[in-house]
Amino acid sequence: MNLTLKVWRQLNAKEAGKVETYNVKDISPDSSFLEMLDILNEQLINSDIEPVAFDHDCREGICGMCSLYINGEAHGPDRKVTTCQLHMRMFKDGDTITIEPFRSAGFPVVKDLVVDRSAFDRIQQAGGYVSVNTSGNTQDANAIPIPKADADKAFDAATCIGCGACVATCKNGSAMLFVSAKVSQFSLLPQGQVEKDRRVLNMVDQMDSEGFGNCTNTGACEVECPKGISLDNIARMNRDFLSASILSKDK
Ligand code: SF4
Ligand code: FES
Repeated sequence: MNLTLKVWRQLNAKEAGKVETYNVKDISPDSSFLEMLDILNEQLINSDIEPVAFDHDCREGICGMCSLYINGEAHGPDRKVTTCQLHMRMFKDGDTITIEPFRSAGFPVVKDLVVDRSAFDRIQQAGGYVSVNTSGNTQDANAIPIPKADADKAFDAATCIGCGACVATCKNGSAMLFVSAKVSQFSLLPQGQVEKDRRVLNMVDQMDSEGFGNCTNTGACEVECPKGISLDNIARMNRDFLSASILSKDK
């Protein structure tokens, strides 16, 4: 496949960026999107041009590092796959492909296609964990009965890889799909009950202070999420947040 690539190039967070056009030739339809970018970068290095900076790590849909906006869609045209799992057979010979970073006020551009998603880390640090008693008296988790339906929903929420496609896709730059998945994976389980109210209040508070917008139920995040995280999690988080807010005012 021969392709024309329109790639966002930006030296650093302060400089203005612009789209540069590159051509790549003889790309196998079986190669992944990131392998195609590797080939582009080899070509650029051989021409004494600085390679395109982009994020990646596992390259198998687990780590959530890859984060490209491809032809106007987070993670590109395929469904329920990350950029690293996207194959070039989704495109046609002669196509022009536009590649941009995930754009949102909460994700400032670091360089080229790399954005700073540390806001997600700070939201997690605000409450996305379960404190465990390690005194030796800890109950075996397998001895706590959990309804299958709740376990399934918790596991589904736990598949969120923190990629940020939901934020990049949302017209409001809302992080609520991500935060609600991280809240739900604990609030659905007995082990998550102790810190349930504190967790949802602190994580939502941190989300707001990081500059993410609010959810207006457009549902674009659910469509573009590579892990199929459901909007039901946002509804659950809103309920948890409301009841925790009322309880905290009563104290
Ligand atoms: S909810 Fe989906 S799109 Fe958002 S961070 Fe998690 S996996 Fe990525
Ligand atoms: S590089 Fe890890 S999910 Fe894509």
